[in-house]
Amino acid sequence: MTLKNDIFLRALLKQPVERTPVWMMRQAGRYLPEYRRVREQAGSFLDLCTNPELACEVTLQPLERFDFDAAILFSDILTIPDAMGLGLYFSEGEGPKFKNPVATAADIKALPIPDPDAELRYVMDAVSLIRKDLQGRVPLIGFSGSPWTLATYMVEGGSSKSFQKIKSLMYNEPELMHQMLDKLAQSVALYLNAQIAAGAQAVMIFDTWGGMLATEEYQQFSLAYAKRVKELLNTEQDGEKIPVIFFTKGGGLWLETMADGGFDALGLDWQTDIALARQRVGDKVALQGNMDPVALYAQPGAIVEKVKSILDKYGEGSGHVFNLGHGILPDVNPEHVKAMVDAVHQYSPQYHQ
Ligand code: CP3
Repeated sequence: MTLKNDIFLRALLKQPVERTPVWMMRQAGRYLPEYRRVREQAGSFLDLCTNPELACEVTLQPLERFDFDAAILFSDILTIPDAMGLGLYFSEGEGPKFKNPVATAADIKALPIPDPDAELRYVMDAVSLIRKDLQGRVPLIGFSGSPWTLATYMVEGGSSKSFQKIKSLMYNEPELMHQMLDKLAQSVALYLNAQIAAGAQAVMIFDTWGGMLATEEYQQFSLAYAKRVKELLNTEQDGEKIPVIFFTKGGGLWLETMADGGFDALGLDWQTDIALARQRVGDKVALQGNMDPVALYAQPGAIVEKVKSILDKYGEGSGHVFNLGHGILPDVNPEHVKAMVDAVHQYSPQYHQ
């Protein structure tokens, strides 16, 4: 099946496009009433993730409303630790948690590397089904957490503010930390390669918590393992290149070394100035971002101005994928998303003449 709209893939590879492509992190989610209905029908968020038909249905929902140029697999980054036996659950208002967090050296040594076609079969089934239902409308993005970000949840047992447990492990027993990250890098690469084999046309590595590290530790414990994952990926499938996007939230300080990591594109959070970011990475990578997700609470007129300003800061030529600087928040008015997407369509062609 040939793709009817491939501007997202072309922009990631810095090939010419007619306008700037746009999609949104967490584009399928609670801000959509149709999502909330399917989630209720499923019972819970995890029931939704593990049911390929329903995961497919909610993946496609935002494309029915908005002219997005990519779909993203509906799932979660914590499927890998769950498949390792940590027992993922979500408690209302507190986010993700694990019944069996990783606490000791013995726990780390015992961590299995999940077989993506067994324990994570439900994810691959969702990918195949979504590809089929998309019928080539837009490309499908597969994703995973970065080894570092997965490790933070696995050691902290859930979300954290200070990252005391994982950082103590890292500072006290760096060798053990490296063993854990090495296992995670292998698991993530197997998982993403299986998504690619099942039909993912681009992949994104979410390093949500890399920005909590000091510079030296970021290089050694976060970036090094994301690069490792990239090296292990099969980035060609059926003769097509599979672009890889790496996103470290709070990574603006380290763009130069990230740009040397072998990725096709970097995700940018909203604190980073996209004009400066483009100068700093040069021709090495495309950039994806970076409107403040909270700007979507402003009135549509103000949102349009923000979109114009970001397009203008990136400037002329390919290599920009419009997105938010992090995921959309659950109570944003969907009409405001429409204002953002339509503004990208209206105001971006002038930068691609
Ligand atoms: O972008 C998309 O539309 C694809 C789906 C997607 C989800 N999670 C769905 C989801 C993706 C790419 C993720 C990644 C993810 N999950 C990350 C990395 C990206 C980021 O935000 O930095 C992280 C850290 C997680 C872990 C996680 N899962 C958190 C912190 C939460 C929020 C908990 C809460 O109560 O708000 C989740 C749940 C989650 N993942 C939801 C969705 C739509 C909300 C689930 C619901 O209540 O319906």
